[in-house]
This record gives sequence, C-alpha cells and structure tokens, in this order.
Amino acid sequence: MASDKLIVFDTTLRDGEQAAGTRLGLREKLEIAHQLARLGVDVIEAGFPISSPQDFEAVNTIAKEVTGVTICGLTRAVVKDIDVAGKALAPAKKCRIHTGLGISDIHIASKFRDDKYGKTLEEKKQRALEMGVEAVKRAREYTDDVEFYCEDSGRADKGYLFKLVEAIIDAGATTLNIPDTTGYSIPAQYGAMIADMIAKIPNSDKAIFSVHCHDDLGMSVANSLAGVQNGARQIEGTINGIGERAGNASLEEMVMAIRTRQDYFEVDSNINAKEFYKTSRMVSEMLGMPVPANKAIVGANAFAHSSGIHVDGVIKNPLTYEIIAPEEVGSPKSAVVLTARTGRAGLKHRLEELGYSLNDEELEQLYQRFLEVADKKTEVFDEDLAVLIGDEIRSVEEAYELKYLHVACGTGTLPTASVRVKTESGIKQAAACGDGPIDAAYEAIRQATGQNPELHSYSIRAVTGGKEAMGEASVKILDANGNPVMGRGVSTDIIEASAKAYMDAINREISRAKSKE
Ligand code: KIV
Ligand code: ZN
Repeated sequence: MASDKLIVFDTTLRDGEQAAGTRLGLREKLEIAHQLARLGVDVIEAGFPISSPQDFEAVNTIAKEVTGVTICGLTRAVVKDIDVAGKALAPAKKCRIHTGLGISDIHIASKFRDDKYGKTLEEKKQRALEMGVEAVKRAREYTDDVEFYCEDSGRADKGYLFKLVEAIIDAGATTLNIPDTTGYSIPAQYGAMIADMIAKIPNSDKAIFSVHCHDDLGMSVANSLAGVQNGARQIEGTINGIGERAGNASLEEMVMAIRTRQDYFEVDSNINAKEFYKTSRMVSEMLGMPVPANKAIVGANAFAHSSGIHVDGVIKNPLTYEIIAPEEVGSPKSAVVLTARTGRAGLKHRLEELGYSLNDEELEQLYQRFLEVADKKTEVFDEDLAVLIGDEIRSVEEAYELKYLHVACGTGTLPTASVRVKTESGIKQAAACGDGPIDAAYEAIRQATGQNPELHSYSIRAVTGGKEAMGEASVKILDANGNPVMGRGVSTDIIEASAKAYMDAINREISRAKSKE
C-alpha cells in the first residue's frame, strides 16, 4: 500500500503529555488540538480515555470541537478500554482507535501473570496474539479506522512480531504501528525491519506501516526517517519532541527533513509548515518546557548567525548557510547575533538594518570600539550599538535636557509625574498621569517637549550588583519614517533611568534628522 503521501500522526497530547512533570488542562488541550489542525496533521492522538475522567473529557471535547482531522484515542488491548475510547470518540466526524500491547519477550514475560496468561513464555505469547486480534475486532465495532501498536518492536522477537502483525491485519487493523518504545534501535536496523515486514508479511499491502520512535539514544528522528525510506507511510511524533524520558521523535524535524530532502525521500505530507514555530511556542508555554536555543527548526538560534564567515555568506546569499528559509516554518527572520567573531560585514549590515549609514572611516572607528565591548559581553545588542554610535561617531546635540523629575505612585495612588525640561526656548514643565510611573513620566515628557515618538520597545537591566545597583534603561522609538532610534539612560533610580533613556532617544532622533538635512 506504499504511496507518496505521508500521514502525520501527532501524539503531543498523549505521549507528549506523558513527559515527566507535565499536565495540561482541558482548555489548553483543546487550544493545542485546534492549532495542530491548523498545522495540518492528519491524526491527533488526543489522549488515553480510560486513564482518567479528565482524559476522557479531553478526548470527547476534542472529538466534538476539532474538525477536518482524525481524532484518535489510545487503549490497551482490553475490551473495557476500547468501549470507553469508542464512547469518547463518538462525536468525531473521523475517528481512530489505537489499541495494542507489549510484544517483546521482555514485556510479555514481565507483564503477563502466569495464573492468567500461561506458565511458559510461548503460552503467553500465543495469548498476547489472541488478545491483540480480539482487541482489533472489538475496535472495528466502533470505527473502520483501527491502528494497532506492537509495543517495544525495537527489541522484539522478529519471527513472532511478523506472525502477530499478519494476524492483526487479518483481524481488520488498517495501520500497524511498529514502535521503538525504548529508543534502542539503530537507523539501518530499524529501516531494515520495516522493509522486511513489508516484503515478507503476506498481507502487508492491506495496511499502512507507521513509525513511532523514542529518543533514548538520540536517534528517534533518524530511526523514523529510516522507516519512511523503507516503506513506512505514517510518522508519529510530538511537537518539540516532548514525551516519556528523552522524548519522542520531533514532528517538526521529521516533516522538515522529508520536505527539505524531497530528492531523497520522494514522499511528502500535507503539513502547513508555516505553523510550526507558533505551535512549538504554544506547546512550550503551556507545558512549561522551554525549547532549547539550538533545537533544530524551532530553536531561537536555528536561524541565527554569528561568525564572520557565516554572516558574510548569509548577507550575500542566505542559501550559503541556510537550508530552510525561516519563513517556511513561520520563524522570525534570520538573525545576525553580534559577537566578537561577527566581523565588519556583519556589523555594517546590522547598522544598515537599524537605519545608520556610516562611511568607511566611521565604520572602522566603530568596529574597534565594538570589539572592545564584544570582548566583555557575550552578545552586543542593538541598544549597545546605538550608544556606541552616539559616543563614538555622533555627538548628540541635546535639544532637550531633563532638569527635574518627580513621580508619585503606590498602592491606591494614581501614578503621576511632573517634569521640567530645558528647551531652546526656555524651561517647559508638564504633569501627567499614566498606567504606571514610567508611563506617566513619558507622557509628561511628551507634553513638555511637544514630541510624540512611537515607543517601540523598552527594557531595563541591572548593570552593577548590590543594593546600589545601577539600572540601565534602553528604549527604541520609531521616527516619522518608521526607522528605529535607540536611547539609553543610567541611574540608581530605574524611573529616572527610564526617563533619561526616553529623552536620549528623542534627542538622537532630532539630531539624526538635522544631520540628514
Ligand atoms: O512508545 C510506545 O510504544 C507507545 C505506544 C503506546 C504506542 O507510545
Ligand atoms: Zn511512545
């Protein structure tokens, strides 16, 4: 049944949520399920209905409310589990029951009691096979779409696995999941097992083979891809690769590897990859599991360049060091991270992006100062560049000088600020209220100066330690043409630092406009 269409089965809400220390509420699960539907996955495994009333409710609600995608519920090969899953999934337009059991010798020998399943391993294996067949038949009473998992296939007795799969397909399973539950497999071995099953099991053409790999040895994605290369046409995984222990295969990595290497895999999915970044952030925030910065596809550094050679290459042609454009996966555009290794070309490029154009001499002068700063800090931010430019290249003629600032705020008090500002035409003063003390101070400054720049961003950080720590406020405003202008203020009082930073940005905007004239 091999086709060029790859089915994408997401188990973030079931196997993903099994990650240690995580739990999602009903509203969160529903929101993630809607987002997975927008991402274009074919199947959402919404939970394990018999495991708890909350899981039942989540699967049932998702089955009612999320359309355009198959909703799946997990069960053991136990009649009661299947009946409960059937009930939870009843409202879905398209539903799947995912049933199965542990089939490796170690699972069967350890989990199956002698008094119930037989004394010898062989007797127990026979009983497990019968239970699997019975489970599939029961599930088929609820839906034509039945998936069977052969848990711990990676370590299974292959002769037994093949015999079991044949019986399970005969019983009516339409998808055969071959999980590497413990992440034990090696890609070539796992791929060969899938190829062998498809070649040797007489009725293999009646079912789709699915890969479901765990990351205990860091090979879950590689194993899954080896499975696809050898005929599997469904991939199972989770967003950000979350899941039991070291996690599951990351859905975004598998999908993007296959899409980027179409030349090799010759299959593709219906995934709308532009939704990956958003989905990744949603899952990370809701589960409280940060995405590592160097995570492929969705990590903060996945499209960040820092070394001089790379930055220079990417500026000339992004394809030099990027095999995927960030916009393809909905990620913010490529970033140049300024460090001591960035080089002149990278610095110049960033300055141009920020709206500064420096001649060669100015650039060289700034580059030397930049190196000094970069040696002390790991990363040089836009705010630092603005200050360097102000200090090194442009002397800012101060159109306004903050002479006096008074702010009143506290619990039950309306934040109010009054300022006195020296201008070319004399001292101007104003008072204003705001949402907070800084907002009030900014409003008073706007009134006193008559300037009304759009505040784009604001940040504050401690630049020295201890009780007397200095706060450094950085603001970015936008000039009339939408170009960013930075301002910085330092004080032991963070409100004063913030007011100074805003005033500094206003002065720089005026100074820049004058120098252009
Ligand atoms: O890893 C596994 O074997 C599983 C099954 C329950 C599908 O998650
Ligand atoms: Zn799993």
